[in-house]
Amino acid sequence: MASAFHRPVLVKEVVSALEPAAHGEILDGTVGGGGHSRALLERYPECRILAVDRDPEALEEARRALSDFGTRVRFLEARFDEAAEGASLAGPSLSGALLDLGVSTHQIDSDRRGFTFRPEAPLDMRMSAGQAGSTTAAALLNERSEDDLTRIFRRYGEEPRARRLAGAVARRRREAPLGVAGDLIEVMAEVFGRPPHVKEKARVFQALRIEVNGEMEALERSLPAIREALLPGGVFVVVSYHSLEDREVKNAFREWGRSCVCPPALPVCRCRGEPLGEVLTRRVVRPSEAEVQENPRARSARMRVWRKAA
Ligand SMILES: C[S@@+](CC[C@H](N)C(=O)[O-])C[C@H]1O[C@@H](n2cnc3c(N)ncnc32)[C@H](O)[C@@H]1O
Repeated sequence: MASAFHRPVLVKEVVSALEPAAHGEILDGTVGGGGHSRALLERYPECRILAVDRDPEALEEARRALSDFGTRVRFLEARFDEAAEGASLAGPSLSGALLDLGVSTHQIDSDRRGFTFRPEAPLDMRMSAGQAGSTTAAALLNERSEDDLTRIFRRYGEEPRARRLAGAVARRRREAPLGVAGDLIEVMAEVFGRPPHVKEKARVFQALRIEVNGEMEALERSLPAIREALLPGGVFVVVSYHSLEDREVKNAFREWGRSCVCPPALPVCRCRGEPLGEVLTRRVVRPSEAEVQENPRARSARMRVWRKAA
């Protein structure tokens, strides 16, 4: 199951959470190298998978990795929010859905994709490179206003020196545009008065990646779309890797588990008074120490599960 392309996290937990979906079609909205999908197809012989990824390289790998399963898998190159909206158009059809957010090991490790902070790597970071109108991290750094850059570093990277960093980027680009990871690392070193630590680089690069790929917008749009595409009793599993994503998922699942969704100012309940479903993970699920030892990239993973009312 583990491949050089990507080693899936929380596999046992994801597979067992999706047990109620074992007899229908499960959306794997982030199929990547196909690790989770393979585990589901092997464990539940009657399930089918709608395998989606926005990255054509990931989809090619998933097609290869899941070729044994023939017509049990349908592949779709798309964003998961588009796929969910498409799936819900003809009415609910999914018994389960999985989003394993973020980037794959393959994406991080290939220098030309520009997700890495190895100094010579191009500042690209697009998951669907080549898509018309898509903006690279370099274009963003060279063209966005200082205010906008400050917002990106602060909101998506929780970087305390966001404004100073944005100012330094703006000064630097007046001399020459930023092109490779090393250019941004030099700007960070100038602001911090020393070379940035790995964690600091990770935060700032993560912020750019989230903006380049519209990751928060895709997640926000996909949550209600996937909820609508699920059949009654369908299960929705999300694995996230940073607190912004996890908060979004936690709040949505909690909201859908409430029995009254009227605004607090309304004197009487006007809503249906029925919860849309139930949160199945009272506490967020994290990988075991043993899993983190074997796969350090699993460290930040958090899983939440919701089940639509039957
Ligand atoms: C952590 S990897 C998933 C790994 C996968 N679960 C496996 O077992 O190999 C995340 C994948 O999600 C894809 N992705 C991220 N955001 C996406 C979006 N909005 N729509 C579709 N795919 C997305 C990335 O291209 C990447 O391949």
